[in-house]
Amino acid sequence: MTRIALYPGSFDPPTRGHEDLIRRSLALCDHLIVAVAINSSKQPLFTVEERLDLLRRTVGVDGRVTFETFDGLLVDFARARGATMVVRGLRAVSDFDYEFQMALMNRQLNQNVETVFLVPAVDLTYLSSSLVREVARYGGDVSSIVHPDVEAALVRRFAR
Ligand code: PNS
Repeated sequence: MTRIALYPGSFDPPTRGHEDLIRRSLALCDHLIVAVAINSSKQPLFTVEERLDLLRRTVGVDGRVTFETFDGLLVDFARARGATMVVRGLRAVSDFDYEFQMALMNRQLNQNVETVFLVPAVDLTYLSSSLVREVARYGGDVSSIVHPDVEAALVRRFAR
């Protein structure tokens, strides 16, 4: 049986932390779908198409990983793709409340999907897309925490 996992998120933009989680997830599944949420309640810096492109560049070619967007409930997307696992990263205690609530709500909605929490590499635990956006907005150096193509996209976006 093929174990299909979903790694959902906003990825605005993708960071080295996301990349780390993707590589760790591959030890637990046969196929990983990195799923960019089309979330109307957030005002994103990059469009979903731009985020998909930046994710592909960050991860590179790996036959076990595909990239998609999804709208609506995560559990419905999981059902549609035959995924039985949702991967989320836990960086600090501050992530826990939200992640715990989301995992329990998703289980309530779909008993067949299990949420698995992975801990990123210790030197990436402080990282978040919102911090990357903030540092890049004010011209800070993000070269060690995002892929060079993401860095270039940030520079272009904030040069306007
Ligand atoms: O990277 P993020 O912003 O923390 O990701 C949050 C995300 C996209 C995984 C979450 O908001 C989500 O699953 N959205 C889809 C809508 C949904 O299913 N909401 C109910 C979750 S309990």
